[in-house]
Amino acid sequence: EQRGIPKESGFDQSIGLLREGYMYIPNRRHSFQSDLFETRLLGQKAICMGGKEAAEIFYDNTKFKRSGAAPKRVQKTLFGENGVQTLDGEEHKHRKQMFMSLMSSERLEHLNNITYKHLDTMATDWEKKGQIILYEEAKKLMTRVACEWAGVPLWAKEVDKRADDLSTIIESSVSMGVNYRKGKQARNRSENWMKDLIAQVRNEERMPEEGTALYTIAWHRDLQGDLLEPDVAAVELLNILRPIVAIAIYISFTTLAVQQFPEQARKLKENGSDYYQMFVQEVRRYYPFFPFAGARVKENFTWEGFTFKKGTLTLLDLYGTNHDHRLWDNPDRFDPERFKTWEGSPFDFIPQGGGDHYLGHRCAGEWVTVRVMKVVLDYFVNRLDYQVPTQDLSFSMVSMPSIPKSGIKLTHVKKV
Ligand code: HEM
Repeated sequence: EQRGIPKESGFDQSIGLLREGYMYIPNRRHSFQSDLFETRLLGQKAICMGGKEAAEIFYDNTKFKRSGAAPKRVQKTLFGENGVQTLDGEEHKHRKQMFMSLMSSERLEHLNNITYKHLDTMATDWEKKGQIILYEEAKKLMTRVACEWAGVPLWAKEVDKRADDLSTIIESSVSMGVNYRKGKQARNRSENWMKDLIAQVRNEERMPEEGTALYTIAWHRDLQGDLLEPDVAAVELLNILRPIVAIAIYISFTTLAVQQFPEQARKLKENGSDYYQMFVQEVRRYYPFFPFAGARVKENFTWEGFTFKKGTLTLLDLYGTNHDHRLWDNPDRFDPERFKTWEGSPFDFIPQGGGDHYLGHRCAGEWVTVRVMKVVLDYFVNRLDYQVPTQDLSFSMVSMPSIPKSGIKLTHVKKV
């Protein structure tokens, strides 16, 4: 017997989604008192769900698939076409293994050192300037870091342009009109840049170091033993560079947290390295980034008495699950110490998706993200003096991705 789940009445809710942003699913989960509800989005029936149990279902590969899940316009900007995000089954596992092979502890240590080096160089420059907009600087920092780590050559005079394109791809991910066009152009330019490099590697005009993303992706072979199509290789290399640049957003939120929560920030100095880890985890839990992840029902199945019909678009509430009061005490409080007792479930703390990194679609770059955030936090707390003048430090809960409005202006930056 089919149990009813709450249904949002009325026509297509895409506008509601754009109007309520991160709170669209949480608001309805709350008002329907249900972790599951049905609505219409992008001209079709859709299921929205959130919470730990829902996340467990969502990351069950026998129940959900990704092909046909991401709207074309998101593929034309944010994701790119035919990348790992759209694959299922063995093909996905094989491609994902390629991504995860870039994440060894040696490669993460190297990333740590590169990040420190570029940060220290840029900080010398910040000392000479009267003020900086942190978000703008962080984008350039992360472009340098991303390219060096990935084995992608970058001329000093290119940095601004590449940083602009990579961040435009991220910032325009859910835009319409002019911004959508800008996002598409930035993606095309960036993909061409990647394609040229891949071709040079394959022609042996360029020899990137083994273990770098450029090397690994250029020479990766699929399950049939073939090299990736040039277009696909370009999308995958950009799947490394683009999100590393996106860490600039988390760098901005981390600095904002230090400013907004001085009591917790003070403990960074007093306590050891565990506190840096917890602080960064809390930044990823607390601030909005990706609102949800999307998939399609693979085969009919029943959960909680409700039948999920094959092909139905299903969104998992990432932001809302990180703020679920059944999973987190006082979820709207910034409290790094909650991670002392967190049991490490792959389904309740899901800012970068849930489940298993190797077997599912959980973010390949989660360790990269945490590592970079910790290096930057440590540098800002222990190596840098700065002032935060009066400014609008608010951030939107509607525009996605959310970025602090002022970009975070800092003055009197000095190395200590
Ligand atoms: C997938 C978030 C950084 C590479 C994802 C997903 C989310 C996410 C929500 C989708 C999960 C799903 O579909 O179930 C973030 C956030 C980041 C970040 C908030 C912070 C800046 C990174 C970094 C890298 C990266 C630094 C690479 C170095 C990927 C890849 C996928 C992915 C390759 C696709 C995985 C797959 O489909 O199997 N990320 N990510 N991300 N991310 Fe990240």
